[in-house]
Amino acid sequence: MNFRTFILGLAASFGLPWLLLIVVPAMKYQSLAPVAYDKEKDGMDGIYPPAPVNGQGQLVYVREGCNQCHTQMIRPVQLGLDGWYKGWGQDQEARPAAPVRSNRLEDYLGEKYALLGVQRIGPDLANAGWRLTDRAKVHQHLFSPKSVHDWSTMPSYAHLYKVQKIQGPPSDRAIKLPKKFALPAGYEAVPTPEAEVLVDYLFSLKRDFPVPGQIAPVAAAAPAPAKK
Ligand code: HEC
Repeated sequence: MNFRTFILGLAASFGLPWLLLIVVPAMKYQSLAPVAYDKEKDGMDGIYPPAPVNGQGQLVYVREGCNQCHTQMIRPVQLGLDGWYKGWGQDQEARPAAPVRSNRLEDYLGEKYALLGVQRIGPDLANAGWRLTDRAKVHQHLFSPKSVHDWSTMPSYAHLYKVQKIQGPPSDRAIKLPKKFALPAGYEAVPTPEAEVLVDYLFSLKRDFPVPGQIAPVAAAAPAPAKK
């Protein structure tokens, strides 16, 4: 084989996948325009997606590398391969599985990066905002994952919390921990503003809205909005 064929072969075998898997999808994503609902056909008004994600909290999510273990993508069923099924991307608790749909490109509209995720080590968070209900519990989980699930392999994000001496009455934002994980007597852990926006972000993850121009797929039954 001569050198020229070798170089051409090399360029083709690396160049083509790069073009098709990276360049074309990136251009497609960047050229997405907002889609509007049609009141008559879709039965609702406004622009899709109706609720944007929390951008500030997304920066913390990126910086902390949550993306390494959590996906935000529910695959469509393709060629009969494993994909979406009822209850996919929900969690291990015995909560009833809410119907969700697989994700579409437009679900990430308005986000600087679509954080599809690197590995599925933790549960998929595409619709975390629908199923997380208890803000205090989410803080407790981030501070000490093992205090929620003793089998958890998720690292602790205690550095997003401030451990301080209790002065006067304990803060009402202090994390409640089970006895085994309790802080030394006289100390409490309170969320920093970064922990708060990160949790805001988690609560804003809802990619289950009806898509314009499609017969409304099942939007997950919305739990009461989380309160600060
Ligand atoms: C090393 C892998 C890993 C990293 C990094 C990680 N997680 Fe997790 N996460 C897990 C695993 C495993 C679980 C399931 C066990 C549990 O509930 O603790 C989980 C569970 C969760 C849950 C509960 C999901 C549910 O459906 O109940 C949330 C929310 C969450 N993680 C958020 C985060 C955030 C936010 C970050 C970044 C600050 C992060 N995780 C980083 C592995 C990880």
